[in-house]
Amino acid sequence: MKTHRIARIPGDGIGTAVLDAASAVLDKAAASSGFALESQTFPWSCAFYKETGAMMPADGIETLRGFDAILLGAVGWPAEVPDSVSLHGLLLPIRKAFVQYANVRPHRLLPGVEGPLREGGFDLLCIRENTEGEYSGAGGRVHQGTADEVAVETSIFTRTGVERILRFAFERATERRGKLASVTKSNAQKHSMVFWDEITAQLSGEYPAVEVTSYHIDAMAARMVMAPQTLDVVVASNLFGDILTDLGAAIQGGLGFAASANIDPTRKSPSMFEPVHGSAPDIAHLGIANPMATIWSGAMMLEHLGERDAAARVMTALEATTARGIGTVPGRDRTDAITAAVLEALD
Ligand code: NAD
Ligand code: IPM
Ligand code: MN
Repeated sequence: MKTHRIARIPGDGIGTAVLDAASAVLDKAAASSGFALESQTFPWSCAFYKETGAMMPADGIETLRGFDAILLGAVGWPAEVPDSVSLHGLLLPIRKAFVQYANVRPHRLLPGVEGPLREGGFDLLCIRENTEGEYSGAGGRVHQGTADEVAVETSIFTRTGVERILRFAFERATERRGKLASVTKSNAQKHSMVFWDEITAQLSGEYPAVEVTSYHIDAMAARMVMAPQTLDVVVASNLFGDILTDLGAAIQGGLGFAASANIDPTRKSPSMFEPVHGSAPDIAHLGIANPMATIWSGAMMLEHLGERDAAARVMTALEATTARGIGTVPGRDRTDAITAAVLEALD
């Protein structure tokens, strides 16, 4: 039987519950589609850090390299381990080491989910640069603790990095409705963002079928609330894309619905699939986390692995579940009940 090797990293907080839910659904979809997911679970998390002093073993990246894909729950338990330690020790190094430069985040309403907007007819795909920009980690602090203290966080944008994410976005727009929104803040940030706008203009000549429009990040935030139906593919830098995709989740009805794929388009390294949301410490022990974002991310993983039919069946089961009103209101239905309904819908 065809087998895909999956590295599972549940992480912290609700990460375990949502990942278990997704694995149950994906395993069932695989079994009935004639392939198998051979999964290995890694306990890398803040608890692991407290035991070992590291978020993952020194050879963690090399271990993951042998897998076809990575499925991750969420990382972070800020009450015990600073986010600057946990995220820089696990999630962010995986994205960088495997050059998962395209973070793909779809935003649309599942049937039966109301969402906060008057008009729900939007279907947009955010493409977030995932390896550089504001997340480069360059910078430092001087005169620490004094009145003269200065903190510097340097954004690094390379031509290679900007060009490849824009090309990826132009290609997605070509496959979809032919509209690309490129998001910057070039009125205030006169180096990196002007550079981004220039490369966007240069590439647009190569994609004549795509209508490209540049927006400032502030205006885009308003547009995603006021007129999201005017958007198709939205491409943004690492930080801007991070913020816009929580906004995208919000217009979808909540963070429990927003899926995400960290893709290495060259396929030299494993790609990683995870929900947009985090470990949700505020609800971590209540059993009410919505697993749909992670299940949807799992469907994106199946698609990436070439299992189109199984991916489509998982999405159909998710949609059938929300259409029945299950999982549509944050906090009302239990994780187990939502998962059981999706499993039943797969039959
Ligand atoms: P969060 O996404 O964990 O939670 C924000 C709000 O959304 C909370 O009220 C939470 O209860 C709710 N929420 C999130 N997911 C939900 C779900 N599936 N179902 C129902 N409600 C859900 O963001 P935060 O509180 O800023 O971060 C908590 C921790 O997670 C921090 O350590 C943060 O750094 C980390 N984090 C990790 C990732 C990741 O691993 N990819 C992403 C975001 C945040
Ligand atoms: C996300 C998260 C991460 C990010 C954090 C936890 C570092 O918010 O995946 O959206 O900013 O990339
Ligand atoms: Mn985020």
